[in-house]
Amino acid sequence: MAIDYQELIPNNVDLGANRTLQRALEHWQPRFLDWWRGMGPTDFQAAEIYLRTATSVDAQGWASYGQVRMPEYRWGIFLADAVPDRRIGFGDEFGKPVWNQVPGEHRSTLRRLIVTQGDTEPASVEQQRLLGHSCPSLYDLRNLFQVNVEEGRHLWAMVYLLHAYFGRDGREEAEELLARHSGDADKPRILGTFNEPISDWLSFFMFTYFTDRDGKFQLKSLAESGFDPLARTCQFMLTEEAHHMFVGDTGIARIVKRTLEVMKERRSEDPAVIRGVGAIDLPLIQRYLNFWFSSSLDLFGAEVSSNAASYFATGIKGRPDEGNYEDHRALQGVHRFEGPDGAGGIRNEEVPLRNAMNEVTRGAYIRDCEIGVKRWNRLIAKAGFTFELTLPSPRFRRTIGAWGGAAVDPSGTPVSTDAWRANAPAWIPSDADRRFVQSLMRPVLEPGKMAAWIAPPDRGINNLPVDYQYVHLH
Ligand SMILES: [Fe+2]
Ligand SMILES: [Fe+2]
Repeated sequence: MAIDYQELIPNNVDLGANRTLQRALEHWQPRFLDWWRGMGPTDFQAAEIYLRTATSVDAQGWASYGQVRMPEYRWGIFLADAVPDRRIGFGDEFGKPVWNQVPGEHRSTLRRLIVTQGDTEPASVEQQRLLGHSCPSLYDLRNLFQVNVEEGRHLWAMVYLLHAYFGRDGREEAEELLARHSGDADKPRILGTFNEPISDWLSFFMFTYFTDRDGKFQLKSLAESGFDPLARTCQFMLTEEAHHMFVGDTGIARIVKRTLEVMKERRSEDPAVIRGVGAIDLPLIQRYLNFWFSSSLDLFGAEVSSNAASYFATGIKGRPDEGNYEDHRALQGVHRFEGPDGAGGIRNEEVPLRNAMNEVTRGAYIRDCEIGVKRWNRLIAKAGFTFELTLPSPRFRRTIGAWGGAAVDPSGTPVSTDAWRANAPAWIPSDADRRFVQSLMRPVLEPGKMAAWIAPPDRGINNLPVDYQYVHLH
């Protein structure tokens, strides 16, 4: 169904045919806008920004671009087209027709999953609300705001499901999604990572590379759901999400590129020399990578999870790309992994495959993360240097699961807590690292100009030149 932009709430779900639902969402809309003005990007609400807006749900040519003030962005409800006669693709219900309403026995589980996903969307906007003031270029400023408005739309996507399928409880949850705030002492966001402020652009690029990618894999699992409206909603969110990871991937690549230029010019790899000219040394980039990768790994949950097993068994949440597996019931296999033995060593563990679904998804995520790291390393090798960026071991700096709280070095070897403490400044950003990165955060607002710590992008947005005026400030 085509997207209707004549309505107050743009949608492709024929919202006008359900007056009660339409009125409820029209009642929520001004509250969302209040939240956006209060908790969204600070100070840039009057700026005109070159943003894309969804115009259809086809993968090809699905968006249009134009100068928009953020509060006037057309947030709406867009579901991927229904697949005729779609069947549940996994678990005990394999092969049965998908559900177009919430089965009573799965109501609270589905509501919790939707709320948890929905909570991350506005959380990231809140985390990033001050970043506009220190943008390295207008191109980057535009990308930040594009990510922010689309996270706002992802909130709409989840709120629609809550309003349309969960009655009064759903409407109350939708209110709560605007009442919790990132980092709030009394009402924090649900997941830990989403309460960490993102106060510098290196963190922003790491977040969009690693944490938005966690989002991608959660959405891929939910896009398999037997609850068809959820599956279709997540399917379209994935189309938008790709740009967020592109921003992270190319952002880190551009920082690496700029650092390599300085290393060549100065004929030095000494961090003090690199920092002396206002660029970011590669070991510091590695420490930020260690921090954000490990904190994003926790978002997948524990290795062994009876919840994950029951989501799979009941058809609520599948594996990413379930179609690529042969055994969609996953009743036979086991998953082997290594856990700590409690005496500083490692012990082999084995669990039924269904209980290891978090680990299966985390494994797919890690393989996806490696692609960018390889690309960044190619830049370094091409410039003639031997330094290599690496993903730390998934055991490193975990707070949940088998390795939660264990002292482990980035290669995955258990170490004493004293050794951990002594080496932490070499493994994760130290206060001095963070202060240095913060000292680089000065706004660059002239079209085409870049901050000294980041190279320009290879091309602009939507085939426009890099020096296009992506943001008109007022
Ligand atoms: Fe999102
Ligand atoms: Fe995202």
